[in-house]
Amino acid sequence: MFKLPKNLFRPLRPVFRPTRLYSSVPLTAETYKDKVSINDKFKKLNDSDIEFFKGILKDESGLITGDDCLGYNEDWMRKYRGQSQLVLKPRTTEQVSMILKYCNANNLPVVPQGGNTGLVGGSNPIFDEIIISVANLNNIRSFDPVSGIFKCDAGVILETADNYLADNGYIFPLDLGAKGSCHVGGVVATNAGGLRLLRYGSLHGTVLGLEAVLPDGTIYNSMNSLRKDNTGFDLKQLFIGSEGSIGIITGVSILCPIRSSSVNVALLGVSSYEMVQKVFIESKKELGEILSAFEFMDLNSQKLVGQYLKLDHPLEDEYPFYVLIETSGSNKDHDDEKLETFLANQMEAELVNDGIIAQDESQLRNLWSWRESIPEASTMNGGVYKYDVSLPLDDLYSLVEASSERLRGEGLVDFEDGSKPVVEAIGYGHLGDGNLHLNVCVREYSKSVESVLEPFIYQWIQEHKGSISAEHGLGFQKKNYVGYTKNDIEIKLMKEIKHHYDPHGIMNPYKYITA
Ligand code: FAD
Ligand code: MLT
Ligand code: ZN
Repeated sequence: MFKLPKNLFRPLRPVFRPTRLYSSVPLTAETYKDKVSINDKFKKLNDSDIEFFKGILKDESGLITGDDCLGYNEDWMRKYRGQSQLVLKPRTTEQVSMILKYCNANNLPVVPQGGNTGLVGGSNPIFDEIIISVANLNNIRSFDPVSGIFKCDAGVILETADNYLADNGYIFPLDLGAKGSCHVGGVVATNAGGLRLLRYGSLHGTVLGLEAVLPDGTIYNSMNSLRKDNTGFDLKQLFIGSEGSIGIITGVSILCPIRSSSVNVALLGVSSYEMVQKVFIESKKELGEILSAFEFMDLNSQKLVGQYLKLDHPLEDEYPFYVLIETSGSNKDHDDEKLETFLANQMEAELVNDGIIAQDESQLRNLWSWRESIPEASTMNGGVYKYDVSLPLDDLYSLVEASSERLRGEGLVDFEDGSKPVVEAIGYGHLGDGNLHLNVCVREYSKSVESVLEPFIYQWIQEHKGSISAEHGLGFQKKNYVGYTKNDIEIKLMKEIKHHYDPHGIMNPYKYITA
């Protein structure tokens, strides 16, 4: 029982984006002209500004101009494209400070950028804002093997940080499919959740300190190594999830747990969403402290991944839902036995119809790839409208059904023959965190599809007491929809904070919050 055939190995793919000379992505300012217009109070970039930045950066590779800015202007989904003519890549926090001070004094708008893997159009400009990429701030600063406190520059790639920690027996307390490209600073600026939030908690808990540059050039430094510090306001929290709206994060101090020596992954076939919820309850009861991920996927998401990977699914028969369970512990025999007993119990109780457990590292990666490849598979037909939502567990999957029904009612969907604009609405996500990803996979982005989905989906979420952003943030995509989750007072307080730190509104303008 639960044996995975040995021939299923396929290595995980990095999040890859080829360099291109021209773009087929329409300009955000054109596609969304009903949503955004240029703010004339901002100054137009000129040659003397560029000379000033050259003087700060010294090294030519830190400054990119004209058409070479394309890869920084476009987002990962190829849904948004800005018109920036200047990317600055400082190498030190002091350089970031000098750049921001100058931009603030001269009313030059900027967009902070990390690995550019964000999924809400937050990391790209709309008009000609200057892109400040932290990619060259990429040093690991220190690691304490006793406390597990890791400090690095914001531009360190998440996977690089995790590999470094692995060499020291530790793990970065966040993992996600974009780990090969996204930055430590970028995930903090987004407050990304990822695949193991269930186990390691939110970055609001694990980040111990930050270094950040405010728009006026002030360097805020709380890069401490303390787990407990109750001296007044916890200011770093303002930057976690702020999406580049009040400053640029340049350094991160984070508490990392010991890497588990025994990791198991199982993939299960389940007959209904109700059963998925029951399996979740049982997994908490029976697997308890070793449970490190509980992800769910619907059948259509798995069909898409199958087409994308060009592989047969590891489970022979089709099921309406699939669950991926990961356990992480310190005693292989104990963990193996616990997981096998759990699966046997679930099958006996008929909560699970079929299941397999990875028998080695490559099979484990293979099973994860059926979950982690969904974002890439979702875009393969042309594009994807993404909705990343928190909902009470009971209602979680109903949003996929409601959206699918609405699209079908409008005659917009066909999975196979390519005659309709929508391929399918698929649902998957971090069920253990009450986080659904609804992806509407399309053959091309179109206003006719988008207007069927929005604001319908946001209204539905509000009616069911959910959040329109569980982990991806608001960025440009949700700028007009914050009120579906936050009340007027909350929005007013957020605007006051924005105005306090960024009175000229130069930080990531045109996005979810304005000064
Ligand atoms: P960017 O995309 O460059 O920026 C994101 C936002 O943060 C922007 O608003 C930008 O202005 C701001 N920003 C970036 N760096 C800084 C900085 N140093 N200082 C201030 N502001 C900054 N998200 C999840 O939560 N969970 C997942 O499981 C998950 N999986 C993903 C899988 C794939 C394949 C992809 C493509 C994305 C996934 N994401 C996931 C989205 C996620 O938001 C990003 O991967 C990550 O958080 C963004 O990091 P980044 O360095 O690419 O930031
Ligand atoms: C995920 O969980 O895979 C991510 O949040 C990214 C996505 O949904 O595209
Ligand atoms: Zn996610």
